[in-house]
Amino acid sequence: MKVLLVGSGGREHALAWKLAQSKDVEELYCAPGNAGIAEHAGIIDIAADDVVGLTAIAKSLDIGFVIVGPEVPLALGLVDLLQANGIAAFGPSADAAQLEASKAFTKDFCKRYNIPTADYEVFTDLESALEYVHKNEPPYVLKADGLAAGKGVVIPNTKFAAEDELKEFFSGKFGEASEKVVIEEFMTGQEASFFAISDGKTAIPLIAAQDHKRAHDGDKGPNTGGMGAYSPAPVFGTKEMEKVMETIIHPTVAGMAKDGMPFVGVLFAGLMMTKDGPKLIEYNVRFGDPECQVLMRRLGTDLMDLFLAAKGGTLDKVDAPAWLDDPVVNVVLAAKGYPGKYKKGTEIKGIATANMMDGVQIFHAGTKAGNNGEVLSNGGRVLNVTASGETVEQAVERAYAAIDEAIDWPEGFCRRDIAHHALKT
Ligand code: AMP
Ligand code: GLY
Repeated sequence: MKVLLVGSGGREHALAWKLAQSKDVEELYCAPGNAGIAEHAGIIDIAADDVVGLTAIAKSLDIGFVIVGPEVPLALGLVDLLQANGIAAFGPSADAAQLEASKAFTKDFCKRYNIPTADYEVFTDLESALEYVHKNEPPYVLKADGLAAGKGVVIPNTKFAAEDELKEFFSGKFGEASEKVVIEEFMTGQEASFFAISDGKTAIPLIAAQDHKRAHDGDKGPNTGGMGAYSPAPVFGTKEMEKVMETIIHPTVAGMAKDGMPFVGVLFAGLMMTKDGPKLIEYNVRFGDPECQVLMRRLGTDLMDLFLAAKGGTLDKVDAPAWLDDPVVNVVLAAKGYPGKYKKGTEIKGIATANMMDGVQIFHAGTKAGNNGEVLSNGGRVLNVTASGETVEQAVERAYAAIDEAIDWPEGFCRRDIAHHALKT
C-alpha cells in the first residue's frame, strides 16, 4: 500500500520509522517531513496545513492511505476532504477534532456524559470573566478556547495577575482562539498522557507516558511543546488504565458516536492523577509529541494494522497491541532560546554515532539537510534522543551519554532531569 504521512516533527519521524517496518507499507511519503524522515520516506514539500495541496498530491500519487500527525490539519478538515475525494485517511473528522480544537466544546461534552474533569465556566466577555475572578480565590486556570500551539493555558496566582491576563486574552492575545475563555478549578496531582485508539465504536488502550512541558529543569521556565518523555509512567499502572478506560475513554467514544460525530483516530487524554482518581485535563486528537516517540519504541505490533483496523471499524477483532517491557526515555534537544527566539540553520554533528550506541535511536524534529548532506537545525525542538534500557536509570543514562559523548551541537540545550518522577519512586 502507498501511504502518505502528514507532519514534520519528532512524532512523525517516530511514526515513519515504525511504518517503514510494516508489512503493509510498500511506499511511504511524508509532507513536509524533515531530514530524518527522509531516510524512510519520499519527502513532499507541502505544508501540513495546506489541506487542498495535500489532497491534490495524494490523488496524483494514487495514495491508498493517509495518516495525519498534527492537530491543525485535522481541525481544518483534512480527513473529511481526503475522504470526499475517495482517499482513506486515519484521524478524526473536523467535527470530532473539536475535542482538541475547542476547550468549551470538550468541557460541555464532559459535563453531558459525566466524564471526570475540573469544574469550569465559559466566558465570552471580559466583564463576566473579571467578576468570576473577584468572587473566587487563586490560583485561576485560564484557557483560550481554541488551538494555541500548547500555549493557551495560563495559571495566575493572584487576582491582579489574572485580571491582566484576562484583559490580554480578550484583546486577542491568541487571536480568535481566545474570543472564548474557559476558567477552571485548579487540580493537583501528577500528570500523565494516556493514549487510546478508536474506530468510532470501539476503543482499545495503548499506553501512558509522562511529558515535561516546562523549558527548564525542576519544571521551571515557560511552557513548551514538551521537552522530554518516558514510558512506562509509574504513576499509571494497569488499575489506573482500567479506570480511565471505564470513566473517560469509553464514555467519550460512545458519546461522540451518539452525538453523530464518531471519533476515529488516536485519543490522547491529558490526565491529572488526583487523590479522587484520574481526571481529564484536556483531550488531544492525535499522538503526543514527545510522547509518541517513546510509544513507537515500545510498540511490538505492526502499527499499520492498528490504523487499518481503526479505519475499517474492526478494532474489536484485533489482538491487544504488544509492548516491550524495557522503559524508554526521550530527551528533546532544542535550539538555545526556545520557546522564545532562536537561530535556525546551525549544524548538528554526531547523529550517526549516537544512533550506534546501545539502546539509542534518534528521531529528528526541526531539521533539514544542508547542501552537502549535513544536518541543520530548522526549528525550536530539533532532535529527540530516545534510549531504552533494562531499567529507567539505564535508559536515562544512555540518552544523556548519547547527548554528551556523541552529539555535537553547541547551539542546542536540553533538560537534564527527564524522567525524574520515575527515578524518585
Ligand atoms: P492543557 O493545555 O489544557 O493541557 O494545559 C496545560 C497545562 O496546564 C497542563 O499540562 C497542566 O499542567 C496545567 N493545567 C491545565 N488545566 C489545569 C487544571 N484544571 N488544574 C491544574 N493545572 C492545570
Ligand atoms: N506533548 C503534548 C502534546 O503533544 O500536545
